[in-house]
Amino acid sequence: VSLLPFNTFGIDRSAKFFTTVQSESDVVAALKKAQSEDVPVIVLGGGSNILLTRDLDALILKIEIEGIEKIKEDENHVWIEVGAGVNWHHFVIVCIEKNWAGVENLSLIPGTVGASPMQNIGAYGIEIKEVFDHLTAVNRDTLDIEKFNWTQCEFGYRESVFKNKLKDKYIITKVCFKLNKNPVYHTEYGAIKDTLQEMGIEELNIKAISDAVIQIRQSKLPDPKEIGNAGSFFKNPSISKSEFERLQKEFPNIPGYPLPEGVKVPAAWLIEQSGWKGKRLGQIGVHQKQPLVLVNYGGGDGAEIVDLSKQIQVSVLEKFGIHLSPEVNFL
Ligand code: EPU
Repeated sequence: VSLLPFNTFGIDRSAKFFTTVQSESDVVAALKKAQSEDVPVIVLGGGSNILLTRDLDALILKIEIEGIEKIKEDENHVWIEVGAGVNWHHFVIVCIEKNWAGVENLSLIPGTVGASPMQNIGAYGIEIKEVFDHLTAVNRDTLDIEKFNWTQCEFGYRESVFKNKLKDKYIITKVCFKLNKNPVYHTEYGAIKDTLQEMGIEELNIKAISDAVIQIRQSKLPDPKEIGNAGSFFKNPSISKSEFERLQKEFPNIPGYPLPEGVKVPAAWLIEQSGWKGKRLGQIGVHQKQPLVLVNYGGGDGAEIVDLSKQIQVSVLEKFGIHLSPEVNFL
């Protein structure tokens, strides 16, 4: 089965077996079958954060569990349980229509709801961990259905327990979010403030924030429907304060955001300064407007993209002494 339609990078690799699942019991049944036939299983959501580097000798489970349901409510909050297969941005739009606040800054992020806690998706000052309540997942070994609360997910910057200790151990089927009836607006991020001003918004609301985020993303990030990509290819690295001060002497313009420990440096800046912004190598390249995004103009192969990413890592390491870690998952 060609996986071309199922990955936003637009890589034409194949999988030996492919099936879609619409419910938790479908997941369990598919896992049981795969276990008995001794076939490895790889889970696919929106395919927006993966890079296919080879043909997969495995069963691809495409999660299509739907549903957006209010399961609880109090004076200030609503608890919304969402099927893992729901398109993330569709969920955001529903929240805006219903006036459930908390995810408006995360508008237009590609992918599915089920993938969102895996890497604690984030943008424009918000991470999913701020609105996450719990999730439901199938244990791949025991086939038990288990719940994970906030602490158990061990969220970090683009990290969760499901990318670390429990990698490939669970399949997320539902995610429950705790959203606000009384919005708390997050407009600290410079670009949001500027865009809202340009839009002439007088009274702030979650729809306006969502519209601003959509406008920013559309102006900077390539649309995967037009140019293959998986969003940020690398994470923004954190370095120690002393290391940052050392770099400041040599590169007075280096941007950095203070963290409780150390400083986060935008990988986009490091890549641009290393001369890679807008570079094209055949069918693949580095995006012109956001060098953190690697792109496939069509027909590029995953292995070539891995190769390009390694060259970028070497340049940045040589120039700044900073190692860039991929944010995209290689398959
Ligand atoms: N910059 C450059 N050159 C550029 C673009 C950016 O030097 O061409 C520098 C500037 O200093 C700029 C800084 O990078 O101030 C930050 O740029 P931007 O606001 O575009 O955000 P980012 O740090 O590059 C992160 C996320 C994005 C998310 C944006 C907005 C990561 C790995 N990426 O990018 O997430 O949308 O912030 O919050 O944290 C994704 O994960 O796929 C993704 C797109």
